Amino acid sequence: MRQGIGRAHGKIILMGEHAVVYGTPAIAVPFQRVETVATLTEHTGHSELHSSFYDGLFEQLPDIISSLYHLVRLLKDHFSHETPFNLHINSTIPPERGMGSSAAVSSAVTRAFFDYHQTPLSDQQLLHFVDQAETIAHGSPSGIDSFLMTQTQPIRFSRTEPIRISRTEPIRILPDLPNGFLIVADSGMIGQTKQAVNHVRDRYEQGDFNVIQAIQRIEELVGAGEQAIQVGSLEQLGQLLNDNHFALQQLGISTPVIDEYIQCARQAGALGAKITGGGLGGCLIALATNEPQAIAIAKQLESAGAANTWVAPL
Ligand code: MEV
Repeated sequence: MRQGIGRAHGKIILMGEHAVVYGTPAIAVPFQRVETVATLTEHTGHSELHSSFYDGLFEQLPDIISSLYHLVRLLKDHFSHETPFNLHINSTIPPERGMGSSAAVSSAVTRAFFDYHQTPLSDQQLLHFVDQAETIAHGSPSGIDSFLMTQTQPIRFSRTEPIRISRTEPIRILPDLPNGFLIVADSGMIGQTKQAVNHVRDRYEQGDFNVIQAIQRIEELVGAGEQAIQVGSLEQLGQLLNDNHFALQQLGISTPVIDEYIQCARQAGALGAKITGGGLGGCLIALATNEPQAIAIAKQLESAGAANTWVAPL
């Protein structure tokens, strides 16, 4: 039976989320510890989707995943694909937690279609499809989540069009991050990227001074973060994560529970901690000097109530 398989990893924004929507840079890393696998198989009868978020006829996909519906239609048109299919999506990326789940699903599904049709897929083509799905899922994304789907290295990213408050070189591959460990903790609460982005945008458009100041501050911090990476200073990077979290609080995208977890990580010895991704729930990240310390921080976070944690070398 004809089949196509596509895989995609998660992502972590180390610094600069939200401000990146306004043209300032952000630093992000592909997160290989979690991944999405899409398998497209030829089928008789009606096309079906099997996943943790929906199991049933493809034509009856709920509105909440209209981005996936739209993406599959684009891919079917691209290949003049008429044959009914079974699309299985298995993922270890928790959905709506700021770890790039929606971009990974779109990316894995796009790769599965190209694999099924035995057609090479360029990064440019992948971005073309994933960006369209992300625009439906998140409103007006900066493109960082989609772009990370084509990368295996840390990057400094800034969007290439619309609202720019600064003019920086769009994308730079960064050197390896300083030696250390990254802890990612899922608060268990669904993040709300679209609402968070809209909330910041409304305040930005009203000329809210706190928002404008926080965005400018994040731009400075990301610049300093890049320097810290260049010189390999984990301590400096940790402190910058703390400062970045403070600016994100000013933007109003953290929550009391996430703030509590961040405090818990710092008390357990983290060099720095912050919310990551869209916010209003979702995940936080922390930095540790070595693996035993990282595991101890992750354990503390779990005892405090975090739904899941991951520890990985930076
Ligand atoms: C979402 O992963 C990152 C945000 O900055 C939105 C975006 O850049 O599109 C919150």
